[in-house]
Formats: sequence, structure tokens, C-alpha cells
Amino acid sequence: MLNISDFYKMKESQVPISMITAYDYSSAQICEKSQVDIILVGDSLGMVVYGHPDTLNVTMDDMIRHSSAVRKGALDTFIITDLPYMSYHLDIKTTKYNASQLLIKGLADAVKLEGGSSSRLDAVKAIVDCEIPVVGHLGLTPQSIHKFGGFKVQGKQQWEKDEIYLQAQKLQETGIFMLVLEGIPEELGRLISENLKIPIIGIGAGRYTDGQVLVWHDVLGLSNITAKFSKKWVNGTDIFTESVMSYKNDVKNKVFPGEENVYFPIHK
Ligand code: KIV
Repeated sequence: MLNISDFYKMKESQVPISMITAYDYSSAQICEKSQVDIILVGDSLGMVVYGHPDTLNVTMDDMIRHSSAVRKGALDTFIITDLPYMSYHLDIKTTKYNASQLLIKGLADAVKLEGGSSSRLDAVKAIVDCEIPVVGHLGLTPQSIHKFGGFKVQGKQQWEKDEIYLQAQKLQETGIFMLVLEGIPEELGRLISENLKIPIIGIGAGRYTDGQVLVWHDVLGLSNITAKFSKKWVNGTDIFTESVMSYKNDVKNKVFPGEENVYFPIHK
């Protein structure tokens, strides 16, 4: 399994880091077979698995359940699991406990949390003090969509760019080992990647970050929409729909089950 020092080496030697989300056992098996560098058990599961309009309903129980299922399918892949909304916003004791549960019960290797405010830096420090590797997440942080007024690109104004840049630096100083940048102009993605020591992983942050992350359902064409920053490598919805229709037609036409699918068939 790759580890944190491998990710630093990849940044140094300019080898792009590949990350993809996964939420269950069988998708994790495919990620591991594909030799992706990192699996992210993202709280995007609230949207793509549970059908919520945003990530805010996701609970610690959800994250633990999905993270441990992913680990069982990917024993040899580095796994980062998201701390869900409000799991690191209260007191430090609760924050430490929740982060530890993602490793102890969720079997993750690291945790990710969103934002860079001063209270968020306190949360990062507390988790790092428990020897838990932490990944930061800045830019279009989905847990803040009500503050942003929707899923909108961040860092367009100079003052926003400055703030995101400053927060990235402070998060690095506080001890994160990796940073996800989401939904920001390419120029800002490049500036942060070039100036920080930690690996920077982008999603909608342009071409110059140290790695990229995408959501499983987007890569496989299982989402209803393809965002500008994303790409589908296969039209999964069409392929799976055709397969399920073929199954249904075979049942309707009494083609399935055939004799080869039957225990001790009756010979007519
Ligand atoms: O939850 C998630 O899938 C994420 C990625 C979009 C970075 O945080």
C-alpha cells in the first residue's frame, strides 16, 4: 500500500496522484484492481448513493459503514474517509472521538475535513495530536453550500483567492498532509500547488495540481449530469439499463433460467 511519504515523493517527482471516490465493497475491489493511488470515501455518498440534494444529511454511522465496506474490498489501497457535517464543529473531544472512529471502525488510513477557519485549524490540530493523518479541503466545500448560496465556483475575486491561499498555508502549518481543492480557478490551483509542500489534489481546480480526484458515479457515467470539471469514461447508465432490460426480457420470454441454470433439471 502507498503511504504518506510516497505521496510526498510523487509530488516531488511530479508523478500525478490519482484518487477516486468509492462507497462499497464491489466498487472498492474495482478501484484496487485499477491500481488507483487513493480511494476517498466521500460524504458525496449522501448525494450519489442516498439521493439527497446535498451532503448535509450524512452521519458518522453512514461514513463508518461505507468506509469499512470499502476497506474490505481494497485491503491494499490508501483510504481517506470524510468527516461528515457537524462531526468536527462542536467541541474538541467530540471531534477527536469522531475522527478516531473513522480509523477504528471505518478502517480508514486518514480523515478529511472541510474549511480553513481558525476553529477548523483547532480541529485539525486536535486530530493530528491523536496521530491521525488529516487531509484538508478548500474552495467549493460542499458542506458550506448554504453559505455559498449553492454549488458555485469559489475564489473568483482577488480577496477570495487571497483568503483561500492563506487558509491553505495555515492548514499546512497546522499539520495536514494533503489538501483537496475543489471548484476554483486554475490559476489559484496552480499557485497553491506550486507554493505548498504538501500534495494538492484537485477536483475542478485545473490542470496543475499534484493529483486529481473524481466521483465514482461521474467517471462511470452513472450521474444525471456531467459537470464541466468532470468526464465520463463510459456511459454506465446506458450499459446497465440495457443489461437489466435484457435480463427482464429473458424472464418475460422464458429464456432465463435455462437448463444450465437449474439444479437437477427435469428432463422433458
Ligand atoms: O465527498 C466527496 O466526494 C469529496 C470530493 C468531491 C473531493 O469530498
